[in-house]
Amino acid sequence: MSLWAERFSEETDELVKDFTSSIDVDRKLYPHDIIGSIAHVKMLSKVGIIEEKEAQKIILALEEIKKDLDKGKLDFTGKEDIHMAIEEEVIRRAGEAGKKLHTARSRNDQIALDERLFLREEISEILHLISNFQRVILEFAEKNRQVILPGYTHLQYAQPVFFSHHLLAYFWMLQRDKLRLKDCYVRVNVLPLGVGALAGTSLPIDRAYVARLLNFPLITKNSMDTVSDRDYIIEFLCCVALLMMHLSRLSEDLILWSSPAFSFVEISDAFTTGSSLMPQKKNPDVAELTRAKTARVYGDLFSLLTTMKALPLSYNRDLQEDKSSLFEAVKIIKRCLKLYPRMIGKIKLNHENMRKQAQQGFFAATDLADYLVEKGVPFREAHGMVGKLVKHCLKENKCFEDLALKDYQKISSLFEADVFQRIKLEESVFNKESTGGTGKKSLARQIKLAREKLEEGENPIAS
Ligand code: ARG
Repeated sequence: MSLWAERFSEETDELVKDFTSSIDVDRKLYPHDIIGSIAHVKMLSKVGIIEEKEAQKIILALEEIKKDLDKGKLDFTGKEDIHMAIEEEVIRRAGEAGKKLHTARSRNDQIALDERLFLREEISEILHLISNFQRVILEFAEKNRQVILPGYTHLQYAQPVFFSHHLLAYFWMLQRDKLRLKDCYVRVNVLPLGVGALAGTSLPIDRAYVARLLNFPLITKNSMDTVSDRDYIIEFLCCVALLMMHLSRLSEDLILWSSPAFSFVEISDAFTTGSSLMPQKKNPDVAELTRAKTARVYGDLFSLLTTMKALPLSYNRDLQEDKSSLFEAVKIIKRCLKLYPRMIGKIKLNHENMRKQAQQGFFAATDLADYLVEKGVPFREAHGMVGKLVKHCLKENKCFEDLALKDYQKISSLFEADVFQRIKLEESVFNKESTGGTGKKSLARQIKLAREKLEEGENPIAS
């Protein structure tokens, strides 16, 4: 019999029971639901709404239910949701006292509390996972400081850069991801419990006391907003969607770099798979699946955004569907964040191939233009002169190194013997010393800065 059976004259249709049930999804919220219920009961007894003895009975039942659930001893199959399942069990174990648990509370504020408690934990864990990944990126970048690879724009050879510089680009993307998540945490960390179904309650509850017990620095201000707000989940999903986008871009780099056309890296056997038909194959499946799972997380974000669009105030059952999106996104991001540091840490770099390809495509063209700028030529003119030089080389099937000084001087008399120094690969990379550039000292500064950022830690409350 359901908790509302007294008001109904007909049994709920079996298919409706199944259709409206969320227990298979929200079962995992039981630790949060129980912690929230314990705080609620303590408050009810503190303000005198229930007797202390009754509170003790309920709390004992809740603690035992938690232990049984931890051991997998309680079967909630067929229940409507985790809140009702636990309440029914409390009533079964604590008798009359148990019937007082749900005083001055609704499942509408209860689920918001469970989700906020869940998200606080998950955000903290995700922040740690990101930092761990950043640490691996940083160590890898430090270890491979000398390696040069072609930098691309439009996937065409552009200018050579340090491999570490390219890799560290992801460090800073992840740094922004952490800042966004910490900021999101501030809005998650607000107590929703105590607003009832939508209107508040006439009973003398003490929300501030519950907030203290559960470590919430703030309490929501409007009961109707509280039960119908899912901004904090949407914000979280936005943060995770961006984070996945970064992993997906890194995945794409790895897929390209490990393809024979590039042959820059070799992903270790442990992080690749073979083909059922072609014996020679070794495929970057982790990177490919990360790309695809990014799409799923975008789907989770859009699913909830669309659910919320034009939803009238206040609570609507539509909101129950938020958990599938939230849980899937959390699961995906944690799996990817656990895999990536392991995979990146074991990547082998093919220095020679990177170097060979970095030397292609007139990599020093911009350096030559800058050389002329240093001698007083306006950049636009210098650009044109080097363009001519490139055209000449293409016609003669030569590269800059093949030209004699007199070939350069045909274009501009400002070219001198030191031009040959400027078209060396190392020179081109080492010299980009502007702040944030790939240059040698600039890279060292970047690595130092990244290390300092990592040492700041990721405690969301401290930020
Ligand atoms: N399982 C529900 C959810 O996740 C709990 C709230 C149900 N509230 C209601 N008025 N039916 O949203």
